[in-house]
Amino acid sequence: MKILVTGGAGYIGSTIGSALEDRGHEAVILDSLVIGHRALARNRPFYEGDIADRRLLAEIFRDHPDIACTVHCAALISVPESVERPYDYYVNNVGKTLELLKGLEEAGCQRFVFSSSASVYGEAPEFMVDESSPLAPSSPYARTKMMVEFLIEDICKASDLRGISLRYFNPIGADPELRSGPHGKATSQVLGTLVDVSMGRLPVFRITGTDWPTRDGTGLRDYVHVWDLAKAHVNAIEQFDQVFERAGDDGNSGHLAVNLGTGQGVTVRELVDAFESAVGHEIAKVDAPRRPGDTAGSYVSGSRAEQLLDWSARSTVQQAITDALRWSKVREEVLGD
Ligand SMILES: NC(=O)c1ccc[n+]([C@@H]2O[C@H](COP(=O)([O-])OP(=O)(O)OC[C@H]3O[C@@H](n4cnc5c(N)ncnc54)[C@H](O)[C@@H]3O)[C@@H](O)[C@H]2O)c1
Repeated sequence: MKILVTGGAGYIGSTIGSALEDRGHEAVILDSLVIGHRALARNRPFYEGDIADRRLLAEIFRDHPDIACTVHCAALISVPESVERPYDYYVNNVGKTLELLKGLEEAGCQRFVFSSSASVYGEAPEFMVDESSPLAPSSPYARTKMMVEFLIEDICKASDLRGISLRYFNPIGADPELRSGPHGKATSQVLGTLVDVSMGRLPVFRITGTDWPTRDGTGLRDYVHVWDLAKAHVNAIEQFDQVFERAGDDGNSGHLAVNLGTGQGVTVRELVDAFESAVGHEIAKVDAPRRPGDTAGSYVSGSRAEQLLDWSARSTVQQAITDALRWSKVREEVLGD
């Protein structure tokens, strides 16, 4: 199957590209390189440009009329930056996604998988959320994700488009075969930052927020290995129609939301401890105030991903740390910087 991956020169989109190829599919990449790295798209068919460029999209579908599905990863993703630059985030993530959806309608591409985020949820009792938990995003970035889900839902209701919004919890790690990983510009990548500190690329790891109502005061996250995450996309694409059959009446609107996490809550301090054990020494770290837009965090409750996508996370946090460290040794060579 041929799949259009927007943002396919970024951390997650490039890993999805590899997971697709490993299962015999072909990824076609559309990325403006506003953040991503050309090298991460490897030798895949690559279109440098904006998701809102309808002429470029038409060209892609002229060149590849057999594209069966779009995975939409392209977005600006920094929570603190979104607080400072909300306009840019709404234009890029929401406005341009509307243009992309219009272009896909014109191209007749009716299967859409969206990179959503667990940050759409509000604070949850005991930090556990399932797909029916209330949405209460706390930053402009998170609101763009919720808005895009709403607009996908409305467009699905009114057209033949069907969409699956995959709400990622906290992706960490790297492709175990080291074809991709955090690229250094992925500002919210906590493990990437830990690696950079341990290698002396950054002076200190800032534990932002130590007064959350969690067991040690630091944010609680559901860290999911990026390779597991990528494989969830492959399942969603390969089983797209079955996913809606399995969802029954829930899928009648044409849009489904599915959480992707491990079901384990790990605090930032616990992640730092696990990282220090893996590298065998302490790293420079400092407690710091909460960042604007941050939340205490949450982790996945329930198993909708298992029911609908036939997917569950397999890798441990330790495995993700090991892969991130292995990636850090080849990163410069792969990225060419
Ligand atoms: N990394 C995370 O922690 C995380 C968590 C939840 C959800 N997500 C979502 O996953 C997706 C991928 O995130 P990532 O970590 O790979 O980020 P990333 O920054 O590495 O990748 C995003 C890519 O999108 C491209 N892009 C941005 N705007 C574009 C535009 N208008 N047109 C074309 N290309 C554009 C960038 O150049 C970049 O290559 C995003 O939608 C993000 O919101 C990420």
